[in-house]
Amino acid sequence: MVSALSSQKDKEKQTKAAVSRRGFLGSAGVGGGILATSLGAQEAAAQAAANVMGPTEVAITLNINGAATKLQVEPRVTLLDALRNKLDMTGAKRVCDRGTCGACTVMVNGKTVYGCSVLAIDAVGKQITTIESLGGPGKLHPVSAAFIKHDAQQCGYCTPGFVMAAKAFLDRNPNPTREQVQKGLSGNICRCGTYVGMREAVLEAARSMKNA
Ligand code: FES
Ligand code: FES
Repeated sequence: MVSALSSQKDKEKQTKAAVSRRGFLGSAGVGGGILATSLGAQEAAAQAAANVMGPTEVAITLNINGAATKLQVEPRVTLLDALRNKLDMTGAKRVCDRGTCGACTVMVNGKTVYGCSVLAIDAVGKQITTIESLGGPGKLHPVSAAFIKHDAQQCGYCTPGFVMAAKAFLDRNPNPTREQVQKGLSGNICRCGTYVGMREAVLEAARSMKNA
């Protein structure tokens, strides 16, 4: 009997010791993990601090209409303001300045964006296309020519944005229906209400680009 009790106590002691060792190893593992995480976080924070730009102007290079263009901008400056105020590229217009009207439309990597809603520094390394790339009075892009032919503007503030939106739309949809044109240009607003002429212009531009 004594021997049975003694054996039972020995077993309990061994179990407690095992739990205690597991607990220690477990907590040491967690502690080590926290320490490693903490060190990792410190390194990440140091790296992030090293990558911080601004608030003063920083030197960047933008690829605009196929040309590498160097400029200095504060990191808070939008692509629209960089184009207009730093590079004198005033084709894209600032109307609402909050991503609702489309007057500032440019293309980045082939897709339309509101230039007022993209930071210039975020456009580094991307292909930026502006209305200035579509030619001037001596050699108009078919979309611009069709806008003139159909008198698709009044005050003209929305027009560069619509032309860029139309070009990007036709690049993706070379044979659009009138309904598709209407939907495709729905990201832009014309306060003068020239929508009918603009839709005609886009349809005509599609035809002339196909026959070119
Ligand atoms: S000025 Fe950018 S969307 Fe209106
Ligand atoms: S022509 Fe005036 S806003 Fe469109």
